[in-house]
Formats: sequence, structure tokens, C-alpha cells
Amino acid sequence: MSNVSKKELRTSIASRLSQHLEAETLDEWPTMETLGDRLANSGVSRRSFMKYCMGLSAMMAIPISLMPKLVEAALLKKTSVVYLSFQECTGCLESLVNVFPNTRYNLSATNNTDSIASIILSALSLDYLETLMVPSGLQAEKSKADAIANTGYILVVDGAMPDDKKGAGFFIQHGKTGLQLLKEAATNAAAVVSVGTCASFGGLPAAKGPANLNNPGNLRGVSPTGATSIKAALDSFGGIYKTKPVINVSGCPPIAEVIAGTLVYWILNGKAPSLDSNLRPKMFYGETVHEECYRKEFFEEGQFVNSFDDAGARAGHCLLMMGCKGPTTHNACTTLKWNQGTGYPMEAGHGCLGCSEPDFWDKKSINAQGQQGVGFYNHLDPATISD
Ligand code: SF4
Ligand code: F3S
Repeated sequence: MSNVSKKELRTSIASRLSQHLEAETLDEWPTMETLGDRLANSGVSRRSFMKYCMGLSAMMAIPISLMPKLVEAALLKKTSVVYLSFQECTGCLESLVNVFPNTRYNLSATNNTDSIASIILSALSLDYLETLMVPSGLQAEKSKADAIANTGYILVVDGAMPDDKKGAGFFIQHGKTGLQLLKEAATNAAAVVSVGTCASFGGLPAAKGPANLNNPGNLRGVSPTGATSIKAALDSFGGIYKTKPVINVSGCPPIAEVIAGTLVYWILNGKAPSLDSNLRPKMFYGETVHEECYRKEFFEEGQFVNSFDDAGARAGHCLLMMGCKGPTTHNACTTLKWNQGTGYPMEAGHGCLGCSEPDFWDKKSINAQGQQGVGFYNHLDPATISD
């Protein structure tokens, strides 16, 4: 039996409710501290921050002479971020929030477990992010309208863009289609960062499905929503939208540090890092996961797993015969690793599905009958291996 009387309970609820309602008043949101304030309050010294930036600049191939300028820019600037979600599963955002906390990069003088990367991310002015923001309804809409009336913000998008079927399509929010919402938010954005394979290449919503073995013509299906990548949607608007800087951070989902690193690069430099032909930062997607895979020596010696419980599996042999797409998949899984540097799929005994590549649901596989594009659990199609 609780010692709290009903009267006390009522008073406590009323007081919490009034505090909550006060916080919901837009005029009374606290002014956001700068990154410099945030680092200082978290016990991160300027020396530690410089050390972190040097590591970061080495990873991103920034000339050391630019360091002081970059540090000042990072400390003083408060970059606004607007985050929109379309056809997605929220796995990308789930991955991003896993960067909090990350003790791997903890250079703090205190026992604070926040990483500097997480502090930088939390010091971003996240002006609109439906899933995590405090305001809702009209207040949330006002936050977005205020943010996109400015210039220079980063527009982060996850999820693919469905066809809007002339205004009656698959994604309607406040009476606007996904395409209308994207165009509105992209107009003043300095850059668009497509987070995840759905936003980068269409991903699952754009998948055509495996070849239909019952179909005599063996025709592929079609995406029921006509989903496309965010870049394709921007291109369809033409004009300024076609030339808007777009960075694809692919992966299903992408690694938290890759998302964070890409945003931090833009904050530090005000421009995109060097990108590959699929608009992905080369610093993270420059090599295939096969290059640094710990099973590669078995690949080279021709020792393969042929069944998940055979002697080869127990000995950690190469997973190529189990459908691994590592040799054609560009990502940082085997270098940065997952779950705060813990491991990656091949270390857990499963082959790479090729999740960071365009059309990974449909392409790059071949079955025993020689049919191509039959789903990612089938063998890697040798014809898809480029030089
Ligand atoms: Fe390459 Fe996959 Fe074999 Fe690793 S398990 S060596 S990524 S083919
Ligand atoms: Fe995705 Fe392959 Fe990495 S499936 S998580 S790119 S190892």
C-alpha cells in the first residue's frame, strides 16, 4: 500500500502537468548552447577536442594546416538539421542514436561516457525530427516551417520516395505528398544527406521482388509504390534541386559512426567529402567489406563454408558459398565495425547481404539454375564483380 495520499498524488500530477504544459510553450524553449559550451560542460578540454579533430581530419584526409580554422568553425557554428522520413522502417534512426554514448572515443577528462561525436551530434540544432522531437502537431510544424525559412541547414532524409500519383499517392502528411514535402524542405537546404539504402537507392520499397519462377516469361515484379531514391526525386524537380549537393549514406541501416562522420564532415568543412559514383563518401565506402574481412585468407586459399554447421563453418572459413556479397559491397563494416566497434556480420558467422549497394534486394545473386537476381541469399553473381 502506498504512503502517498490521493491528495498528494493529485497535487504531484497537477504540478507535473503544469510543468509539461509550460515546456510546451514555444516562446519558452531554452536557447540552445553552442558546441563549445556543450563540450566545456561535458568536461572535454580544448586539447582533447583538438586531438579528436586531428584524428577526424586524418580519417577524412583534411590538410593539417586547415585544422585551427576547422576547430573554430566547429566550436562556433550551430548547424541546423531538418530530418524527414518517408518510406522507411526507422532502423536508420535507431542506428544513429546508438552513437550515444560511445565510449570508444571517450577523451573526456571526467567519467562522462558521452563521446565527442555524440556531443557534436547532440549540439546540432535538430529543428525537426518527428520520431524524437518534443513538440508535436502544430508546434512541430511550426518548428519545421521556421527552420526551412532559413538557409544553410542540412536536410537529412531516410526512406524512399513513393510516386505521388498526382497528389493521391502513398505518402500524405498534412495534406501534402512526400514529393511536395521534400521539395519544400530541400529548397533552402545547403545539402541533402540521404541516410540508408532506401533514401540512397530506393532500397526495399523500390525492390521488384525475386524472379517469379512460376511466370513463364520470368518477368520481374514492380515496386507497388513506384519508390525511388531521394536523389531521383530531387532530379525530377529540375532547376536548383538537380544541382543540390546530395550525399548518400547507404546501408540497411548505415553504421552510426558513418552517419555521424558524414554530418561532422559537413559541419567542419561546409562541403561534401569526396564521393564515389553512387554519391557515397569515399572515406567510408572506398573499399569493399571483403578487403578487410578476417575470413579473407580462407577465401584466398579456397576454403569455404558449404553449410552453416559444417567443419568449415566451425573453422571460420570464407562464407562466399553461403551467399556472401562482400567482394562487391562497399562499406566500412570490417574497419569501423558495428555496435560501437564490437563486430560485423561475417564475424557473427553470416555473409554480407550487400545492404549498402544499389538494388541489393534484387541484384548480384545467381541460383544453381543460373538465374540472375534471385534474392540476396543466393550466390554472388560473378558477372557483377567489377575491376
Ligand atoms: Fe569475402 Fe565474404 Fe569471404 Fe569475408 S566471408 S572473405 S567478405 S567472401
Ligand atoms: Fe550490410 Fe554487408 Fe555490412 S550486409 S552491414 S554491408 S557486411
